[in-house]
Amino acid sequence: MKEINVAIIGCGGIATVHAERLIKIEGVRLKAFMDVEEKRAKSFSEKFGGQYYSSIDSLIKNESIDAIYVATPPFARGEEVKAIEKGIAVFFEKPVALTLSRAEEILDSIKRHSVINSVGYMWRYLDISSIAKEEVLKNSPTAMVLGQYIDPFWFPPNHWWLYKDKGGGQVLEQATHVFDLARYLEGEVSHVYAEIDNLIAGKFIYPDMTAEDSSIVSLRFRSGAIGVIVSSCVSQNTFTGTFLRLITRNAVVEHSGHSKILRIYEKNRVQEIRSSVDPYLEEDKVFIEAIRTGDTSKIKSSFEDSIKTLKITLAANESAKTGKPVSLY
Ligand SMILES: NC(=O)c1ccc[n+]([C@@H]2O[C@H](COP(=O)([O-])OP(=O)(O)OC[C@H]3O[C@@H](n4cnc5c(N)ncnc54)[C@H](O)[C@@H]3O)[C@@H](O)[C@H]2O)c1
Repeated sequence: MKEINVAIIGCGGIATVHAERLIKIEGVRLKAFMDVEEKRAKSFSEKFGGQYYSSIDSLIKNESIDAIYVATPPFARGEEVKAIEKGIAVFFEKPVALTLSRAEEILDSIKRHSVINSVGYMWRYLDISSIAKEEVLKNSPTAMVLGQYIDPFWFPPNHWWLYKDKGGGQVLEQATHVFDLARYLEGEVSHVYAEIDNLIAGKFIYPDMTAEDSSIVSLRFRSGAIGVIVSSCVSQNTFTGTFLRLITRNAVVEHSGHSKILRIYEKNRVQEIRSSVDPYLEEDKVFIEAIRTGDTSKIKSSFEDSIKTLKITLAANESAKTGKPVSLY
């Protein structure tokens, strides 16, 4: 079996999630780690083997790599183009970038060099997501899409997530998973209207925080369905949760993202399906297999597709700023 040599760029929280799964995949070798804070890359190298670097240029120069994982915060995207230009396959964590122009530059490079690419919208890899998709189609049309991403506030001082110019805010960085699942299940969005604000965290926790702590984003899908996705990062740890509910002609299809439960509510019965799939392991396996075989058909979230999710969250931010709805198509 061909060995696949992997490097990870950005050695923080989600990088650990991928590294722990990649070492379980046969034939994968974690060959190098890079972080602007060298000690972080060094600690990965001590734990998982491989070399550590604080610059992408020296990593590319010194290592023979088949794939890179881009696990940097959204504001730090762009340098990985140097690896793409060497023909190296690339896995990006969501969101693909902070701005559309940066995302399009990266996409242009991916296309010019025809590199295999994938994005970490991991819920798409849950078995319940395919079942939900079939149910939505079978019971169409959908009247309403209701989504939620509610979290308690856990951020330490100065964390990049607190600043809109670094993380993009909760809609763009976190609730993006729910927007992406909504696209996966119901299709493209034609326009967006949003109210986004910081009503608690910026007043009582960190006065310099610029990311929102609460948002509602209303959507019109091309299918005709109407939807709303609400998010907050200032809930209590006793009240959290992510879900997407689709009210269709003959059923309500409810996908509870992080808890990996699908409920299908029909006239006289409720079916509950619990997934035991590890979606991070699944997306990593599919990406590695695509590199090994050249067959990308099992990749459920390409860079190009993920730009469509980014566009919705950017439109929500624009709408909140102008007070006007934004048309996407
Ligand atoms: N799919 C998921 O479930 C999931 C979960 C968490 C985070 N994420 C995404 O992963 C990305 C990283 O989030 P995180 O929580 O792991 O962040 P983190 O802060 O824990 O780690 C980011 C790391 O990147 C490093 N870094 C910053 N700028 C860099 C640069 N220019 N080059 C190299 N390294 C750089 C930092 O020093 C840090 O070690 C974000 O885009 C986030 O949205 C996805």
